[in-house]
Amino acid sequence: MGGNENTAPQEERKIIMLVDDNQTNLKAGKEMLKDHYTVYPAPSAQIMFGILENVRPDLILLDIEMPEMNGYEAIRKLKSDPDWYSIPVIFVTALTDTGSELEGLSLGAIDYIPKPFSGPLLLKRIENHLFIEEQKDKLKEWNENLEKIVTDRTKEVVKLQNAILGTVGDMVEFRDDVTGGHVARTQKYLELLIDQMVEDNIYHDEVSKWNLDYLLPSAQLHDVGKIAITDLVLQKPGKLTEEEFEIMKSHASIGIDIIKKIEENVGSTTFLKHALNIAGGHHEKWDGTGYPAGLAGEDIPLEGRLMAIADVYDALVSKRPYKDAFSTEKAKQIIDEGSGTQFDPKVIAVFDKVADKFAEVVKNGGA
Ligand code: C2E
Ligand code: SIN
Ligand code: SIN
Ligand code: FE
Repeated sequence: MGGNENTAPQEERKIIMLVDDNQTNLKAGKEMLKDHYTVYPAPSAQIMFGILENVRPDLILLDIEMPEMNGYEAIRKLKSDPDWYSIPVIFVTALTDTGSELEGLSLGAIDYIPKPFSGPLLLKRIENHLFIEEQKDKLKEWNENLEKIVTDRTKEVVKLQNAILGTVGDMVEFRDDVTGGHVARTQKYLELLIDQMVEDNIYHDEVSKWNLDYLLPSAQLHDVGKIAITDLVLQKPGKLTEEEFEIMKSHASIGIDIIKKIEENVGSTTFLKHALNIAGGHHEKWDGTGYPAGLAGEDIPLEGRLMAIADVYDALVSKRPYKDAFSTEKAKQIIDEGSGTQFDPKVIAVFDKVADKFAEVVKNGGA
């Protein structure tokens, strides 16, 4: 081989490590490669690992039959080390049975070159493999860039979405004339319930799929349907008539309609699915006497069953145009009384464990 026109500039040269216990093979291999690559010959696997401490080769040509540590053991060690596992390895050997070929490839070698080999063939195969490795690296870099772009964009979208939602939540709260912070507190209650459910493995299959970054903000839309309820009903200082309460109840189905409308426009997202389950499910009751659909038991979406507890708890501890605030102890008692009729008993058991933390939220958030 040779000719200066084929000689790559020193600094751009790829590094090939040649590992063979046979000195003649080492010399011959180095002769074949030295015009195109920087070659590090190693007469044993141990010496190879010594060199690897300081040099990162682009490719390793690894002999199989060597005393002490053979090629199979060497590649196992390479592939189990996070610093080295990505270095491509080609086995070079005089062994020709297909069994050892398979074993080599199954251990992570990218190719198998039988000895004796001709210089041009060796060079061509190395060149091909290095080209493939380069393409793989480029692809990986591309993917990483793409992922970063998508992540950044998603973060922006989620931030915007949450800002708009916060505003919608504030609007509902403002019209509802409830003392501030209801929406923020209910998110905290939900988080307390879900954290405890995770710890106790309650409804694990479902809860483990949730991402709280999407679920908790979606709770801000739970009463979005109240936007369509007249002030005369929404802010009535006293008890609602039956007719007025029917109007009031429509806020749940209107909420579903509003969120479905958004889904039609932007497509279904995790966030909107949670929002739908919360807005549509938070007034359903465990015994089937709730609204809007009269669902019962586990037919009520789990997010709705959680929101029901969070929502009622906060309504109880808050002053409303139609009621005074109850103490946190009284609120807990009323919620507990609804176990198995209004509320999911499994979630009430969770609520009982974190009721003190609910009370803490009320104390810190003001009721
Ligand atoms: P909200 O005030 O946010 O109350 C949410 C839920 O908390 C109520 O859903 C109810 O399940 C529970 N809750 C509220 N206060 C009490 C209470 O004193 N005792 C018990 N056991 N539970 C209570 P609900 O009943 O479906 O009402 C939905 C919404 O309708 C209420 O939201 C509120 O905006 C309105 N509303 C309900 N009753 C009246 C009323 O008598 N007068 C007025 N002006 N509005 C009412
Ligand atoms: C040698 O070349 O080192 C002997 C044959 C082989 O290990 O493949
Ligand atoms: C979202 O839910 O806000 C968008 C991303 C997703 O669907 O998980
Ligand atoms: Fe509601």
